[in-house]
Amino acid sequence: MANIVELRPGAVAVIVVDNPPVNALKQAVRAGLRDAFTRARDDAGIHAIVLTAAGRTFMAGADITEFDKPPQPPGLVEVFDLMEASKKPIVAALFGTPLGGGLEVALTCHYRVAAPTTRLGLPEIKLGILPGAGGTQRLPRLIGVDKALPMILSGDPISAQEALANGLVDEIVEGDVTEGAIAFARRLLAEKAPLKRARDMEDKLKPYRDNPKLYDEVVAKSAKRTRGLAAPAAAIECVRWSFEKPFDEAERGVREAFQKLREGDQSKAQRHIFFAEREAAKVPDIPASTKPRDIKRAAVIGAGTMGGGISMCFANAGIPVTIIETSQEALDKGLATIKRNYENTVKRGGLKADEMERRVKLMTGTTDLAAGVREADIVVEAVFEDMGLKKEVFGKLDKLAKPDAVLATNTSYLNVNEIGKATARPPSVLGMHFFSPANVMRLLEIVRGAETAPDVLATAIAVGRKIGKVPAVVGVTHGFVGNRMLHARGIEAERMLLEGALPQDVDGALTEFGFPMGPFGMGDLAGLDVGWRVRKASGAKAEIADALVDAGRYGQKTGKGFYKYEGGSRSPTPDPDVEKLIVEASVRHGVKRRNLDRKEIFERLIFPLINEGARILDEGIAMRPGDIDVIWVYGYGWPVWTGGPMHYADRVGLSYIRDRLAEIAARAGNNPKLEPSPLLMRLADSGGTFAGLKKAA
Ligand code: 3HC
Ligand code: NAI
Repeated sequence: MANIVELRPGAVAVIVVDNPPVNALKQAVRAGLRDAFTRARDDAGIHAIVLTAAGRTFMAGADITEFDKPPQPPGLVEVFDLMEASKKPIVAALFGTPLGGGLEVALTCHYRVAAPTTRLGLPEIKLGILPGAGGTQRLPRLIGVDKALPMILSGDPISAQEALANGLVDEIVEGDVTEGAIAFARRLLAEKAPLKRARDMEDKLKPYRDNPKLYDEVVAKSAKRTRGLAAPAAAIECVRWSFEKPFDEAERGVREAFQKLREGDQSKAQRHIFFAEREAAKVPDIPASTKPRDIKRAAVIGAGTMGGGISMCFANAGIPVTIIETSQEALDKGLATIKRNYENTVKRGGLKADEMERRVKLMTGTTDLAAGVREADIVVEAVFEDMGLKKEVFGKLDKLAKPDAVLATNTSYLNVNEIGKATARPPSVLGMHFFSPANVMRLLEIVRGAETAPDVLATAIAVGRKIGKVPAVVGVTHGFVGNRMLHARGIEAERMLLEGALPQDVDGALTEFGFPMGPFGMGDLAGLDVGWRVRKASGAKAEIADALVDAGRYGQKTGKGFYKYEGGSRSPTPDPDVEKLIVEASVRHGVKRRNLDRKEIFERLIFPLINEGARILDEGIAMRPGDIDVIWVYGYGWPVWTGGPMHYADRVGLSYIRDRLAEIAARAGNNPKLEPSPLLMRLADSGGTFAGLKKAA
């Protein structure tokens, strides 16, 4: 086995970290770095040191798997003390993604050179923590408070070019970055260049020391939505200390803040999602070596809401895509919407005009199905939600598509096996369930049919990743995982209106928890007529929602639904007319309205959803509780800092949820959907957890 940290001696010695896949700074790496820097210090033949890594990236951060365990010495600070005491220049040779603790190591070097494709960042905030090893103090000194704070609060990386411009790196080198760094170090020696220690740099802090109010402006500009989150507030404080306190005192405070966040529930939840996201696309019975099919060209059938967004996903990833519609008019309309979406992004500064042109050029439209799918390696169907129509389309695809093409349906609810049977090649068929707006939402539920071939599944996962989605593999059931659970959330929503709550009370219970919107706001956004049409077809009823649609209140599109939307606004305002309609319905039912508190409302919405998640797990429709959490965080706006429904349920306690569900079910006339599910009962009775299921498996 290669050394985890190797010291290659020479006048310019090279220290190489080799801890695949991302050179995370686990204990053995930290110990190796300490030893290597000590040896380099003591070796009189060494005059300068280049620090780099093997494999695909410079260190991409602390080892997140260690965060659940007590800290193991040496800490990074011990390594940094050695580096900063060095009389010999240390140059970081950066490539790949120097992130988090990895970038903090680089910040402690005297100089930094980078390969042109390097992306540098401090993503700790995305894990509910903050840069705990000098990032909040050294970065502001190097690039200025106004540039450092946005990097720390967004967690997003910057390019090598931006890093060169703002002083984070000293040089971009073409070709072998280690060789480039060695040449750079030789020049430093020849020029007897000073040892530049970020901790000693004061220039960029001075304006803030002279006028601390300047910082409030930087905070106001950089802080995004931070409601309910502990890490951003702590990070803002820590960066303030960079100009308020001496370096070492500030760093002691930072370490305390870091430990507190690391041990807190929010970071635990966010770390859970980090690993669950990576696991959700792994299918135990499909070996990792399964080769995905080569995807050079895609076709999307239907240029409506979803088809347009899905086509954009392909074009954004550089995959040429043909969009197929039934009429030229529908096609033109769909293509115009896509163009408008891109233009809006360009206007907002999110995309360069030439890049938009490049993407639009990758799209072609046609009304000729045969011509449209002939060359495609993957076809995604996004026509109306109608089984008859879907079968007809797949029947045609069977005859027209390439023999090895992957055939995917974007259906929200329908049986993927039945759709597959409309072809003579069910192994090539699966569901790729995108979420609206498809070009924005990260989740991709990949629905594995009974006969879906392993390499077809592997292809869908690989394509999903390529187009920037978070794939989660699920089985066939009505509504798959997300929509089936969403349905369970809705059961009690309308009943609560009749009992005494108003739409804003119900939605408020969820937005207070961290959801971007509640069930009624979401209904208004999607259009109340959609559900109404489904209910009419199946004979189902939803008294309040049906009455609203009958009154012409379709939601945001008509300016009125459960709320009113004045002057084209997208923000809901409670409407006395709706309150009147609800109160009258209560009277009709002979219900004496009462006050429902937030806790009751929240539990009646969320516990049935968790219960349905347990059923889904029990049936094997979802492979792991973490998969369900990923689906809810990336597809339905579940607040990431609570870790998704199953993680959250474990925290609340399953026996509490079981007891509450039993009460809710009894009050709802023993509605079997609300009865605690067998898995929930089993786990609650035995003191188990959903997380424990995975370990037991
Ligand atoms: N610690 C432990 N494991 C890590 C890790 C880390 N920091 N980063 C990635 N991994 C693991 C992943 O879990 C995955 O494991 P698996 O193969 O068993 O599923 C494997 O490495 C490969 O990761 P990806 O699938 O994500 O690979 P990509 O090439 O798509 O992405 C990456 C690489 C951009 C580095 C991405 O993994 C990433 O963003 N990692 C996290 C970076 C991060 O958050 N760093 C900060 C950590 S906190 C910190 O440094 C605190 C400090 O301030 C003290
Ligand atoms: P839509 O009504 O906006 O678009 C459907 C498009 O398909 C229309 O433009 C129509 O002209 C076209 N079409 C119909 N038959 C066709 C055919 N034979 N060949 C080519 N084009 C045809 O519908 P939307 O919302 O885009 O939904 C499409 C599918 O995506 C449905 O199965 C839906 O359940 C699913 N879905 C919808 C989501 C949403 O939020 N709207 C979310 C996830 C999935």
